[in-house]
Amino acid sequence: MTSGTTDLKDVDLTDLDAFAGGFPDDVFTRLRAEAPVWWHRPTAHTPGGVGFWVLSFYEMIMAAVSDAELFSSERAPGASGGGTIIEDLPYGFASGVLLNMMDDPRHHRIRRLVTPSFTPRALALMEAEIRSRSRAIVDGIAQRGSCDFLTEVAVELPLQAVAALMGIPDSDRANLMAWSNTTLDYEGRELGESNDAVSRAAASMTEYGNRFIEEKKVCPGQDIISAVVGATIDGDDGHLEPLTDLELVMFFNLLVVAGSETTRNSIALGMVALIDHSEQLCALRDDRSLMAGAVEEILRWTSATLYNRRTATRDTELDGHVIRQGDKVTLWWPSANRDGSVFEDPFRFDIRRDPNPHLTFGYRTHFCLGANLARMEIRCILDELLDRLEGFTLAGPVERVRTNKHAGVWHVPMTFCPRQTTPTPAGRCS
Ligand code: HEM
Repeated sequence: MTSGTTDLKDVDLTDLDAFAGGFPDDVFTRLRAEAPVWWHRPTAHTPGGVGFWVLSFYEMIMAAVSDAELFSSERAPGASGGGTIIEDLPYGFASGVLLNMMDDPRHHRIRRLVTPSFTPRALALMEAEIRSRSRAIVDGIAQRGSCDFLTEVAVELPLQAVAALMGIPDSDRANLMAWSNTTLDYEGRELGESNDAVSRAAASMTEYGNRFIEEKKVCPGQDIISAVVGATIDGDDGHLEPLTDLELVMFFNLLVVAGSETTRNSIALGMVALIDHSEQLCALRDDRSLMAGAVEEILRWTSATLYNRRTATRDTELDGHVIRQGDKVTLWWPSANRDGSVFEDPFRFDIRRDPNPHLTFGYRTHFCLGANLARMEIRCILDELLDRLEGFTLAGPVERVRTNKHAGVWHVPMTFCPRQTTPTPAGRCS
């Protein structure tokens, strides 16, 4: 499917094997040039046997996400399913209940409750903790000279950070990570299919979440879960009401997964990009004023979420194509981030890129709540790594997760050595 000469009709974005080598950039380069609004016919892999629209062009994606009433994250009017992944999720259980699969006004009312936990002021208070956790993570590998950078570094910080944000005890983190990994793993199954391990992991996470929420109701803390369990929002009848038990546990699940499974891939693949561009790694090590730009370029380059879906709530037209009410419309963020009409030389990794208006965190109504937390995590762990270690080298292939939803990696074997206190000769720092 990834050959430049392949007919577009043979492209199958629901075939997870097509993502084995990472995001299929060559396919999307063709789509942007030849069919920026493209109808993906159903294939043997497509959940429900229903095709969907593929938006690959930056401006078109921005336009669609900017009209959240027309392009719903929840469902088409009266539909029994919807949500933001290609397969329909049942309305009232996942779509319409998870914050990211809910439309305004309820989405806005709930989002308002939790935004105080992510303000720059709130995050500034977390920074010392994120820095000390980054230090401890690097302490754990520094003397060894090698590690699996994914499992021992990149997974750890986002997981610890989201657990701290939610008030989850350190001792429960490993279980949550294992459950979350299992639900996102498509090894041995296709889109829309489940298996015993996935069902068990989802049930365990929900059971844990329900218990955790009950404890927070009795004994609230300073965490984001306590902020939602005790709160009320305007109901549709104008009266104040608490979030439903299902909304609470789905919010719990969303934070665990969104908070830990995305940033880890940006940290890991960001480090790989820096190793591949060692002159930029050296520059960053020696001049930390480059850090903010480096973080943005890592986010653009790695584009950890590959797509989100919307559903048309009425008939409309996009770029001359008739979109029918109920049609699924998918927005491919990494493709927007490689759009040459917005990014000069988009396939060049450049920590000095300015401006860098990437769409890695989405746009407008559902813009990522954790964007600034993710940025802070990437900055803190890079600072710590570059202060303490050098000679970073990949010691084996990067092993990828079989999925079309995340730029997921399982393993990144890496070697390095403690940084010399005396300056190293130019070129040695990578
Ligand atoms: C590099 C890391 C991350 C990436 C690439 C990422 C990506 C995204 C994207 C693309 C969306 C928009 C989805 C849509 O429009 O349908 C989103 C929403 C969201 N993200 Fe993130 N995210 C990251 C980190 C985080 C973290 C650390 C947290 C929480 C601790 C988080 C929590 C959320 C939540 C709650 C939403 C839903 C917001 C809403 O619907 O209003 N994310 N994220």
